[in-house]
Amino acid sequence: MKTKPTKVLFVCLGNICRSPAAEGVMKKLAAEAGQADLWEIDSAGTGDWHVGELPDSRMRAAGAKRGYNFTHRCRQVRPDDFDRFDLIIGMDDNNLRNLRLLAPSREHWSKIVPIASHLKPEEGKLVPDPYYGTDRDFDHVISLLEAACGRMIKSLSHKIC
Ligand code: 4NP
Repeated sequence: MKTKPTKVLFVCLGNICRSPAAEGVMKKLAAEAGQADLWEIDSAGTGDWHVGELPDSRMRAAGAKRGYNFTHRCRQVRPDDFDRFDLIIGMDDNNLRNLRLLAPSREHWSKIVPIASHLKPEEGKLVPDPYYGTDRDFDHVISLLEAACGRMIKSLSHKIC
């Protein structure tokens, strides 16, 4: 039996730091878990300043140190994303607020999920914006994303086993 893929859109503000990293981490961990066909993963930003750009060079460098190659081209969230995707995962409260404003209807709100729902309390309630931060902040983002994406993959494994 072929399971339909779960379609996930990761969303942050600029779509050059956190959400393209989330996309890259999720794709790699899914492939390593034998779940490549079970997920469709993309990312987008609520802002449009960096449309068409590769991820921030600091995020690509932090990823490369852990074996990731972040190659997403920045795009902005579109109203039709709310029909295309099953889950739209925001990195912080600002993202979640903006997503609710962009959703074509209240019914679409149920697809909007905080990344915090896949974090442990001690890991915090958000993935913090590293844009004005240091290399350590970029590294911390990847650690949080590995934890969150790892749990998403594990929870699907339990459902299909
Ligand atoms: P992101 O980080 O939301 O994780 O991609 C940011 C990237 C760019 C800007 C802000 C946050 N910016 O202001 O251009």
